[in-house]
Amino acid sequence: MNVLVTGGLGFIGSHTCVELLNEGHEVIVVDNLYNSKIEVKNYIENITKKQVKVYIQDVCDKEGMKQIFKENKIDSVIHFAGYKAVGESVAKPLMYYENNLISTFSLCEAMLEAECYNLVFSSSATVYGTPERTPIDENCRLGPTTNPYGTTKLFIEQILTDLQFANSKLNIALLRYFNPVGAHESGLLGEDPKGIPNNLMPYIVKVASKELEKLHVFGNDYDTHDGTGVRDYIHVVDLAKGHLCALNKLNTEKIGIDCYNVGTGVGYSVLDMVRAFEKENNLEVPFVIDPRRPGDVATCYSNPDKSCKELGFKAMKTIEDMVRDSWKFVENS
Ligand code: WQD
Repeated sequence: MNVLVTGGLGFIGSHTCVELLNEGHEVIVVDNLYNSKIEVKNYIENITKKQVKVYIQDVCDKEGMKQIFKENKIDSVIHFAGYKAVGESVAKPLMYYENNLISTFSLCEAMLEAECYNLVFSSSATVYGTPERTPIDENCRLGPTTNPYGTTKLFIEQILTDLQFANSKLNIALLRYFNPVGAHESGLLGEDPKGIPNNLMPYIVKVASKELEKLHVFGNDYDTHDGTGVRDYIHVVDLAKGHLCALNKLNTEKIGIDCYNVGTGVGYSVLDMVRAFEKENNLEVPFVIDPRRPGDVATCYSNPDKSCKELGFKAMKTIEDMVRDSWKFVENS
């Protein structure tokens, strides 16, 4: 099957391209390199020993997207392209709304014109806002979201729902990611954020490599087993495989549009992650307890049953795999 991957040179996109190629699919990537680099194309080809076709262009460019569909017979699309930094979205909301929404409009118009109807969309657990209950299942209340990034994901889910209602041939899976971490075992692909990382794992890695002095733990007075925030961390390779499960579902069944949590169903605290990282990698991660980060919730982890039952997806990698692979990527860089 020919699969177009928007944002395919990014963290999750590149890992998904590897799994797609390993499964025998033809992969076409469109990426504007805003949060990635062209060398990732070589890494993907090095790992899989297969070619990937890359268009370096912006998904917001509607005519450019239509041209890609003219030049390639595309059967399905996985849409990763979009800005994703929570903190940045609070400071630059217009940039986030414009880019994340316009890119989706542009893609969908090109898909409909080319009569391409299978779409997997990269959504996020942030659409649940402050969780109504944990573990979170897909019937939990959506919103209110706590940042513009999460709001763009919620808006896009609604936009795609309306679009599918108007174009019944569309077949759409909305994947709600929890906390993606880790890296490909080769050490060639991984999370490589520019500047000071917002997220926990890239920050831990920079402290372990002594690029940053110490980890700031945002609060240890939450109602959790050790007082620090609990999240559902999922290995990025498991997450990538979850996209293939969704793609296979769309190619075998007309679902119209439906949403699926992609997580492990297990919650780990900040200090659980620190201690696992130190033990697995025999490294120290000095930390200091800081005040809570505004917008954080105490506990957020998934009920993964629907993805398991309906997509046949189950995360297999352990917390040890996550922290070992995260470090190996940096050691290899
Ligand atoms: C995890 C835990 C922090 C950094 C975000 C997005 C979500 C998704 C994943 C895209 C929390 C604590 C963190 C640090 C810390 N991204 N922490 N010190 O906020 O759960 O989710 O990333 O889809 O949409 O919202 O992830 O890694 O920022 O935080 O103590 O320097 O680590 O308080 O408990 P988060 P995170």
